[in-house]
Amino acid sequence: MQAASTLEEVFDHPGTLAAKVVRQGWFKSRVPGAIGDVQSYAEKIGMLLGEPIMSRSRAIVERLAPTPEVEAHAKSLSAVYGLGSFPMHTDGAHRLEPPRFIVLVCASPGINPVPTILLRFNHLRFTRSERMLLDATPFLVRNGKRSFYSTITSASRSFVRFDEGCMVPQDRSGQSLFRTITHRCRNAPIFSINWRLGDYIVIDNWHVLHGRGVGASEASPDRGLLRVSVR
Ligand SMILES: [Fe+2]
Repeated sequence: MQAASTLEEVFDHPGTLAAKVVRQGWFKSRVPGAIGDVQSYAEKIGMLLGEPIMSRSRAIVERLAPTPEVEAHAKSLSAVYGLGSFPMHTDGAHRLEPPRFIVLVCASPGINPVPTILLRFNHLRFTRSERMLLDATPFLVRNGKRSFYSTITSASRSFVRFDEGCMVPQDRSGQSLFRTITHRCRNAPIFSINWRLGDYIVIDNWHVLHGRGVGASEASPDRGLLRVSVR
């Protein structure tokens, strides 16, 4: 799964990176040379992949840091999970169309490093009847005044939408699907990114779930990842 291409190849052939990510599920590499301006590098990778999406604070590059429950934004995963591990999810699942790609760049591994974990959704080995339920079971997707109903998968679109933080089951079938996915994620082949300063990954956010894995202890707030979401 891990790519071996050099950065020169990536930037000399625009389109190569996106194709590689779609084929492999993700691409991991490192900011070249001396680790300097990781922020502008994160933006550069995002522009190469497509159109970066502005965050609520109108920034292209968002800095993510582990945040204790009490200090977290009410609608964030941090509000529920704090400094602990995060369950697998699609980024931006509350949007009508989640970002196509997510770029994460390590600006600081932190004194208590915790990995980012990745998993291809189709490695969860759903049965035929489970696949039908994934296509048919509605969830309320909470997004303030723009909340809407959606399924996890659909024949009419190619992306997976899965985030227990913003999706509310409407019946027992939805609750059962959440339990099934959570259980399968524990037993599926997971890829871990053990961050070093300057590492970056690009995730196919439509087909790969990601989460925050378990470190030796809870994550520390000095762990900093830069994120660019791309449509
Ligand atoms: Fe995420």
